[in-house]
Amino acid sequence: MKMLAHSCGLDAPMPIGLSTARLRRFGAVIGVPLSTDGKLAMSNQAPAFWQTVPASFSIEPRAYRTSTWSAHVPFAFWLIETLRPAQFVELGTWHGMSYLAFCQAMEAFETDTKAFAVDTWQGDPQAGSLSSDAFNSLRQAHDPHYARFSKLMRMTFDEAALQFTDGSIDLLHIDGLHTYEAVRNDFETWLPRLSQRAVVIFHDTQVRERDFGVYRLWAELTQRYAGFEFHHEHGLGVLGVGSNLPEGIRNLFAATSEPQAADRVRQLFDSLGKAVRTKQVLKETQQGWDDLKSNLGVRAVMKAQRVAGLAR
Ligand SMILES: C[S@@+](CC[C@H](N)C(=O)[O-])C[C@H]1O[C@@H](n2cnc3c(N)ncnc32)[C@H](O)[C@@H]1O
Repeated sequence: MKMLAHSCGLDAPMPIGLSTARLRRFGAVIGVPLSTDGKLAMSNQAPAFWQTVPASFSIEPRAYRTSTWSAHVPFAFWLIETLRPAQFVELGTWHGMSYLAFCQAMEAFETDTKAFAVDTWQGDPQAGSLSSDAFNSLRQAHDPHYARFSKLMRMTFDEAALQFTDGSIDLLHIDGLHTYEAVRNDFETWLPRLSQRAVVIFHDTQVRERDFGVYRLWAELTQRYAGFEFHHEHGLGVLGVGSNLPEGIRNLFAATSEPQAADRVRQLFDSLGKAVRTKQVLKETQQGWDDLKSNLGVRAVMKAQRVAGLAR
C-alpha cells in the first residue's frame, strides 16, 4: 500500500515519492479527481481514509473472460501494487482472465513491469481444448492496452524457460496442467530464473479431485518457504521464494501463523473476489442470452424463407 504523508505544501496528504503524473494516475485508480497541479481535489478527511485502504481495492476489472480464476482478481491487483515486479511471467493463460488483471494493475500502478504470458493456447487434459480463435480473441483484448510492456509467447513452458536469464523474474504465476508431476516440473524448471524478490503463485491448491496434485507440492514447498494460502476459488498459494521480499508481502506471510489474522485476510479477499465472480457470471449469462436471441432470430428468418419458398 502506498503510504500517504502530509507534505509537499499541499492541502491534502499525498502519496510519498510520486511525481505529479503518477499522482494523477493514483487519483484515477482510487477514483479521486486531481486538479491540474496534481493536488487531491477532496476534503481533508477523505485522503486520510486511503491510508488504511490499498488503492488496488477500488480497481474495476476491465476484462471478464471465461475462467475459474476470476475471484482472485482483487488479490492480483493488490499483489502488483505491493510487489511492483520488474519482470512477471504467467505459465497458463487460457482466455486471459488472470493475465489481463495482472496487466491492468501494472498499467494502473505504472510499475514498469515486463510481462510475459506463456501458453500453447491448445488447452490441456484438465482445462479442456481451446478453440482456434481463443488466441486471437485474447490478442484483441490485450494488444490495444498492454502490448507496450507485455508479450504473449505461444509455446510450451519448457521452451519459454530457455528465453529467460537466471535471477530475473520477480513474480511467477504457475497455472498450467495441475498434476503433481507437471506443476513440480514447472516450479523446478523456473526456480533458477527467480530473483531475490521473487514470489510464486499457484492456482488450485485446494483441489483434491481427479489427478490434481498442486496441494501436494504446496504442502512440500511450505516446509521450505514462507507462504500464504487462499482457500476460495479452488485455492491460491502465494510462496515467498526470494530472500528480499517487500514488507507488505512479509506481512501477508506473517498472517499464516496467526489463525484469526489469516482468516480475516481470507475473508477480505474472498468477499472482494465474489463481486468480480458475480459480475463475470452476469456477463456470461447476458452473452449467452444475446447468442440465444440472435440464433433464434436467424432460425426465424430461415423458417420464414422456407415457408415463403413452399408458398411459391
Ligand atoms: C487452467 S488454464 C489457465 C487459466 C488461466 N490462468 C485463467 O486465468 O483462467 C491452463 C492453460 O495452460 C496451458 N498449458 C498447460 N500446460 C502447458 C505447457 N506445458 N506449455 C504451454 N501451455 C500449457 C493450457 O493450454 C491452458 O490454456
